Amino acid sequence: MRIGIIGAGQMARALGNGWAAAGHEIRYGKRGEVRDAVEFGDVTLLAVPVLALTDVLAQGNFDGQTLIDCTNAFEPDEGDMMLGEDAVAERIAKQAPGARVVKAFNLCAAEVWESDERVFEGRRLAVPLCGDDADALGQVEQLVRDLKAEPVRAGGLQRARYLEAMSAFVVGLWFAGGDARAVLPPLEAAFAVAD
Ligand SMILES: NC(=O)c1ccc[n+]([C@@H]2O[C@H](COP(=O)([O-])OP(=O)(O)OC[C@H]3O[C@@H](n4cnc5c(N)ncnc54)[C@H](OP(=O)(O)O)[C@@H]3O)[C@@H](O)[C@H]2O)c1
Repeated sequence: MRIGIIGAGQMARALGNGWAAAGHEIRYGKRGEVRDAVEFGDVTLLAVPVLALTDVLAQGNFDGQTLIDCTNAFEPDEGDMMLGEDAVAERIAKQAPGARVVKAFNLCAAEVWESDERVFEGRRLAVPLCGDDADALGQVEQLVRDLKAEPVRAGGLQRARYLEAMSAFVVGLWFAGGDARAVLPPLEAAFAVAD
């Protein structure tokens, strides 16, 4: 296949090198070369920051194109670009001011908690927690341990937006017969260099 890649950064190179090794023809579209890359490809990959998309999409004709979008609307190190919608947990916190809300236990089906099994494929089940109050988080961590699972602090209550979105996505995958566990590498393999 001929693959046009918009962007020449980390994702562009990582995916482009992999596809080239598999025998595909690649053309990278650096700044100023977007149109060439789009015209070249049977398939085009968008591998630019979300904030660049308006500019990039105005530069090419994508009519009939298979357009792969690998972008994420957040910067992992900045944490201030969040999904626009409030999480349910944030709405609860607004409606019950003074309550110390912790988002937890929304990922796994009740059957998981009804069974005695907590270790799957050699790894203890982890439960992500989002909340703003350290004492409340500590209480819920203990409650997770009491269920023989491992708590994971996953950021403030605002990040419950992601936890809720993740649940919707993962549950959909499971219902469709897909293995959600298979789509994520273990931490050791998630990045080239651990921070
Ligand atoms: N890195 C990851 O692990 C990862 C994983 C999943 C998804 N993503 C998503 O993939 C996308 C790319 O990430 P990345 O890590 O590859 O970023 P990156 O290394 O910073 O590369 C971004 C590329 O986009 C180009 N670019 C920026 N603005 C542009 C514009 N207006 N017109 C044309 N090119 C422009 C940059 O060119 P210059 O060098 O000239 O600025 C650079 O080549 C992001 O949306 C990110 O959220 C990243």
